[in-house]
Amino acid sequence: MRCDYYDAALCRSCTLLRVDYPDQLSGKQARARAAIGDHPGLVWEPAVASAEHGFRNKAKMVVAGTVDEPTLGILDATGHGTDLRRCPLHTPGIVAALPTLAAFVARAGLTPYDVTTRRGELKYVLVTEGDGLMVRFVLRSTEALARVRKHLPWLLQELEPAVVSANIQPLHKAVLEGDVEIPLVGEQLAMPVGDVVLHLQPRSFFQTNTTVAAALYSDARAWTRDLPARTAWDLFCGVGGFALHIAHPGREVVGVELSEEAVASAARSRDGSGTEVDVRFVAGDALAFARDAERAPDLVVVNPPRRGITELAGWLEASRVRHVLYSSCNVDSLAQDLNAMPSLVPRRARVFDMFPHTAHHEVLVLLERAVRA
Ligand SMILES: C[S@@+](CC[C@H](N)C(=O)[O-])C[C@H]1O[C@@H](n2cnc3c(N)ncnc32)[C@H](O)[C@@H]1O
Repeated sequence: MRCDYYDAALCRSCTLLRVDYPDQLSGKQARARAAIGDHPGLVWEPAVASAEHGFRNKAKMVVAGTVDEPTLGILDATGHGTDLRRCPLHTPGIVAALPTLAAFVARAGLTPYDVTTRRGELKYVLVTEGDGLMVRFVLRSTEALARVRKHLPWLLQELEPAVVSANIQPLHKAVLEGDVEIPLVGEQLAMPVGDVVLHLQPRSFFQTNTTVAAALYSDARAWTRDLPARTAWDLFCGVGGFALHIAHPGREVVGVELSEEAVASAARSRDGSGTEVDVRFVAGDALAFARDAERAPDLVVVNPPRRGITELAGWLEASRVRHVLYSSCNVDSLAQDLNAMPSLVPRRARVFDMFPHTAHHEVLVLLERAVRA
């Protein structure tokens, strides 16, 4: 992929940009294989490649510069803004929207937050593209909120975003968002993924590469379809992507997720699916849910944050769960968790390249409990 910002040394976030894409992919496969290790009978499916540009459905733009000439991008080493609004990773809808959002900053008089003087109001503009756009303004306080509201009709006319909100992040820290979210327009962004429509609220987690996420969920469905699993859990379920893909008549699925908002969105996606599926979503801690359950299910899907499943690995090892489908964005914590579950043997694995031009990647592994001799 060609990137003017990289060539001009303005941004070096894509650490593998100079590596040919097929070599990036084979490097990721080698890394995943080394982390998971050799297991007799383990089948590696060919890696799922991504588009090399235009794949990233979410832009996290630091706002800097001045009210009249804001930069949307990153901060350099001195705390000054570098404008990256034409970053080729973002989906075309996001690239097209960023100049309008920069114009909105000027129109509404939203002073960019200056990290060196700790002055100003607008810290980030966050944009997600699904079936339409979700736009979030991360503000230091509610001071500028009236101006955002006043000029919102212009933004609605120019961009027709499905969702607009303001997030209040008062801390002087490199933290993307705060706890307070103020809805301004709409509530949920519809995110079609394969044959399922997920719904995202402003603070919901969602995979950053929609096309590769669709391939991931599709494999989760295909790899688990014929397993003898009448009961299944989707732990760390977010807005329910895995749960809604692995559900089928005769299978009871429970999704468990810390965020109540995400659970509400998942339930909405299930209710709008138009098919009768036995899926319920519960807000809570995955490990506590497993420990409190009367019976272990036949199948558990886990898709944890980067730290991995930690103590849950011990619970799974000691349980009677027959199959585990582990989707990981960090092969180091995956390897650690697999070591803690020696009775669950990797049978099938695949790399999904959610994050081209960086060393990051997703790995899906199907584990089966070894039959004791
Ligand atoms: C990598 S995301 C996976 C989301 C989802 N599976 C998907 O496909 O989009 C991890 C999710 O785990 C949730 N989470 C973090 N810690 C948790 C915990 N202790 N118990 C349950 N969910 C947790 C986060 O809120 C986040 O939604």
